[in-house]
Amino acid sequence: MQVVSSIDEMQSLAKEFRKQGKTIGLVPTMGFLHEGHLSLVDLVKDRSDIVILSIFVNPTQFGIGEDLEKYPRDLTRDLELCNERQVDFVFAPDESRMYAADYSTFVSEEKVGAGLCGLARPTHFRGVTTVCAKLFNLCMPDFVALGQKDAQQVILLKKMISDLNFPIEVLVGPIVREPGGLAMSSRNEHLQTKQREGALILLQSMQAGKKLVDEKEITNVGRVKSEVMSILTESSVVRVNYVEIVDRKTMEVEREIEPGRSLIVVAAWLNEVRLIDNLPL
Ligand code: PAJ
Repeated sequence: MQVVSSIDEMQSLAKEFRKQGKTIGLVPTMGFLHEGHLSLVDLVKDRSDIVILSIFVNPTQFGIGEDLEKYPRDLTRDLELCNERQVDFVFAPDESRMYAADYSTFVSEEKVGAGLCGLARPTHFRGVTTVCAKLFNLCMPDFVALGQKDAQQVILLKKMISDLNFPIEVLVGPIVREPGGLAMSSRNEHLQTKQREGALILLQSMQAGKKLVDEKEITNVGRVKSEVMSILTESSVVRVNYVEIVDRKTMEVEREIEPGRSLIVVAAWLNEVRLIDNLPL
């Protein structure tokens, strides 16, 4: 495994592999790796000759007052995990190399990213699309692996890839959960054991909503949303940001639930930690 921090070197390597006819798979991450990230390595490895995992805590996707400084980091441990998982290249650029002092170009998707997390974090998705466009130009992947944990991010990046004609296929990995059911996230590091137990309410509330659909054949969006919402608020463990039922392919809010198409999405704060999760109906 090779660690690359220079952006020029990364691009030269990618160009060379392309010239040799090798396929490249990219797993973009912000590091502090867990099994959710590493499962994506396995997903691209099947399809790619070269696997690149990028580690970059991207400042442009953090809003003012968000947790950029507190975001967990441990490059040494991340590199060990990547080595064990047979990643070929870890691309870990410096912030100053990715964004020069006079940096002024942004990529912004204006529809998919407008709602849900985009409402609570107005500049977040612009940062995600911008950094991913840069990572795509530097690593030149044929395949990019993204996690369903960030359902809106998947649809947003698919839209950017299609709208801007990047020659990239997106592979989506399922949500990897802790044994109790909490979706793995680097930010879970900030939760104490008791809080991690409390955070299970996210999945439990969505499961209760799904039960109404599965067992009582309820298709009324308001009815299922209020079931999920009331379980979350009654728990008084989390502060709800949103509960929505959306079309999983577009992230547009559903008028009526359609099993196989609809997705419950939730976001909530547990103290200062923002948690998101989703469950297909
Ligand atoms: P990060 O939160 O580090 O996540 C990197 C990738 O891992 C994303 O595609 C995310 O959806 C996936 N992932 C995280 N937790 C997961 C889980 N429990 N199960 C499955 N996949 C999971 O998402 C980002 O970084 C950034 O926004 C990024 C795309 C790298 C741009 O900066």
